[in-house]
Amino acid sequence: MRRADVSELQRKITELKEEKNAVLLVHNYQVAEIQEIADYLGDSLGLSRRAQDAGDTDLIVFCGVDFMAETASLLNPDKKVVLPSKTARCPMAAMLPLRVLKSAKEEHPDAAVVLYVNTLAEAKAEADVCTTSANTAEIISQLDEETVLFGPDKNLAWYASQRVPDKTVIPVPEHGHCNVHVLFGVGEEAMRLKEEHPDAELLVHPECNPEFQMKADYVLSTGGIYRRSKESDAKVFIIGTEVGLVDRLRREIPGKTFLPALDYNECSAMKRITLENTYQALLEEAPVVKVPEDIAARARVPIERMLEMSG
Ligand code: 13P
Ligand code: SF4
Repeated sequence: MRRADVSELQRKITELKEEKNAVLLVHNYQVAEIQEIADYLGDSLGLSRRAQDAGDTDLIVFCGVDFMAETASLLNPDKKVVLPSKTARCPMAAMLPLRVLKSAKEEHPDAAVVLYVNTLAEAKAEADVCTTSANTAEIISQLDEETVLFGPDKNLAWYASQRVPDKTVIPVPEHGHCNVHVLFGVGEEAMRLKEEHPDAELLVHPECNPEFQMKADYVLSTGGIYRRSKESDAKVFIIGTEVGLVDRLRREIPGKTFLPALDYNECSAMKRITLENTYQALLEEAPVVKVPEDIAARARVPIERMLEMSG
């Protein structure tokens, strides 16, 4: 689309949004033209908080992936939540089928069940508490149980086990992962960039492999990477997460240089959302995301507990 057409569509979305008393909640991995018109732009935790705070909004248009829109809907049972593309589904969330979780629970009846928000609502319904990449270690450290079942991301489970060494964190399933973040490998490309820019700070997401996390200056959620980039005195940053965040950093933090840790690493699920289908979703108020109430009543509990336990 030409820049003039992009601006025109952005203007139409903004106008219609106001007319309908709608809010546009946008994840950091969305394309720049959607980020630019967000009412709130952030990571999974920030988006959950913003959704909980939806106030008298009539409609939530969620530009992210399925589990994020589901979480917004669970927190707002009386509001309509739309996700502009039905195919914006996080493959990691589907890596924890209910039967696998139930059998792990039977095997470890005394363990706390902690689930990453990147899960389906039916799995959340079986959890004690949910977490995001921003608060997993913080929440696990507050639990009474010594053993914790954590799923589906084995790399985030590893990250938590390093930060909270007095707990035993068991990943469920054994090999759950994000297809996008494991592509960074052990950080070979990032190390090459570091040789060229020895003063650069390496900021990495906890969904990356442990070998890469160990090389990082900081391991943070996408919101954490954004805040660190703003606050740090460093001038160059190597970013180990999806490229949408790099777009945001370059746009919002001028005067600093942001280098992706891989040439181009993009989440195809996130990129199913476009400016065009966002406009259509707002116009038609569809496709609606709604969890059946019997599951929603149970899935809501661990999300609310997460928001209470998270500083
Ligand atoms: P954040 O909560 O850090 O934004 O991560 C969400 C996600 O899906 C990472 O791949
Ligand atoms: Fe899911 Fe990975 Fe995409 Fe995040 S980056 S939405 S975990 S597939």
